[in-house]
Amino acid sequence: EQVAAVIPAAGIGQRMQSELPKQYLKLGGRSVLEWTVRAISQDPRIRAIYIAISPDDPYFQQQHFASACPIVAVEGGATRAASVAAGVERAVADGFTWVAVHDAARPCLTAAELEQVVTTALADEVGALLALPVADTLKRSSKTRRSEGSVAREHLWQAQTPQVFRAADLQRGWQQLGTDHPQLTDEASVLEALGLQPQLVPGRRSNIKITQPGDDAIARLLLFDDS
Ligand code: CTP
Ligand code: MG
Repeated sequence: EQVAAVIPAAGIGQRMQSELPKQYLKLGGRSVLEWTVRAISQDPRIRAIYIAISPDDPYFQQQHFASACPIVAVEGGATRAASVAAGVERAVADGFTWVAVHDAARPCLTAAELEQVVTTALADEVGALLALPVADTLKRSSKTRRSEGSVAREHLWQAQTPQVFRAADLQRGWQQLGTDHPQLTDEASVLEALGLQPQLVPGRRSNIKITQPGDDAIARLLLFDDS
């Protein structure tokens, strides 16, 4: 089975508060996006990479990608869902039926995690996503930010990417829901809205999403750790 990777990279990185959009921050010799493309290229079943970028992005042309498969830039949208939908549309036009959606901001994905989620998805009716069982005790806060109580963390997972699904299911979901919802922060949500239940594949904590100031430093430690 051939799979297209779709990498949404059209966000502004508001929470990161960096001058340069976070997907272009340098981690050693490579940008975040260059690391991410390298990571997602590590599975031979990935045959093309569609990257959604902002229409006024001056940085993408300066990128140097180390990837054996073709890289196609598509115009992203105002929400993550719109950006991913644009990539999926191009992948479908090129004949792909399965897509692996992976955040540009997750450069520390390993080949083993990728292999597991792709293999699980392709053997499943619905597909699969990497996710982490919640490790910390969860608190519910009052309006004055006092701890009102704990929330049972059994059955709670943090969604990561890659998320590997049939393009047709995603497109059916976006048709019903629309893509202009900022709260549609992953693709599994789209399938869940259709009543489908993707498989959760236990991932690793090292597959962080660079989100807040300091996360780039953590990513450098993870990428260059040789212990
Ligand atoms: N993304 C996108 N198009 C958008 C919004 C987000 O392609 N309109 C991408 C981001 O570039 C990122 C991924 O979706 O790789 C995950 O989103 P997030 O971490 O929230 O990135 P941003 O939206 O850029 O950051 P923030 O929410 O802090 O503004
Ligand atoms: Mg965002």
